[in-house]
Amino acid sequence: MEANLPKRKEPSKSLRIKVISMGNAEVGKSCIIKRYCEKRFVSKYLATIGIDYGVTKVQVRDREIKVNIFDMAGHPFFYEVRNEFYKDTQGVILVYDVGQKESFDALDAWLAEMKQELGPHANMDNIIFVVCANKIDCTKHRCVDESEGRFWAESKGFLYFETSAQTGEGINEMFQTFYVSIVDLCENGGKRPTTNSSASFTKEQADAIRRIRNSKDSWDMLGVKPGASREELNKAYRKLAVLLHPDKCVAPGSEDAFKAVVNARTALLKSIK
Ligand code: GTP
Ligand code: MG
Repeated sequence: MEANLPKRKEPSKSLRIKVISMGNAEVGKSCIIKRYCEKRFVSKYLATIGIDYGVTKVQVRDREIKVNIFDMAGHPFFYEVRNEFYKDTQGVILVYDVGQKESFDALDAWLAEMKQELGPHANMDNIIFVVCANKIDCTKHRCVDESEGRFWAESKGFLYFETSAQTGEGINEMFQTFYVSIVDLCENGGKRPTTNSSASFTKEQADAIRRIRNSKDSWDMLGVKPGASREELNKAYRKLAVLLHPDKCVAPGSEDAFKAVVNARTALLKSIK
């Protein structure tokens, strides 16, 4: 019986993808991968020499995904080795250390290096990028806050996660979302599913939150000179209130920033009396 039935070809459920890690030396790229694949953390710094390669299997919905991970060395010295490995990539894990501003500022240079290696006709829009703001366990040294990192990532249409390879925070969620996004991309013929990739808040809002957090006193917080008049205070307050009101602003930290501005204004108005 069975032999007479036309043979139906089962659609292949397995998929092979290539992902790479990018970011300055010592930001934690290898540790993030190790935390996910081996569930452990190595506190001693062992610089990646050129490239580390590993294979892992993950399940996304009904598909088995074979992931080839190329963990790149961040040190400039290894440029000649890693530049071979940018092509045919479906996903990039872009890492910075939240306690090291230079590593955050370097993200644009990492994108530029990749673009240069892929050549002028390469389409980076069809690669999934996930930005990892890593080492969030080191709260005392943090100097790049969430709103700044998230804004940078989301305004480019990249995923953003706060991670700690040390505690494991954010790591599984990051990889799961990353792999699902890559599979969605592959199932959509290599094109990004049309979602609203623009950031859910503006640079002006992110900048204001950062400025308020780093302000040295209430005058500074409102962005006015010490001894400013009541009118000047109220004008500055109204501007910030419109920008950061919780009904209008979804940037991380906006609620605290808004409360701080309200308190600063109240205290300064009292002092003017
Ligand atoms: P290269 O291979 O040189 O490009 O560096 P890398 O980005 O792979 O850094 P690696 O993963 O080797 O980690 C660098 C150092 O940071 C090591 O001492 C790690 O133990 C430490 N580290 C990595 N992630 C974390 C983290 O989330 N929290 C803390 N506290 N330390 C971390
Ligand atoms: Mg490494």
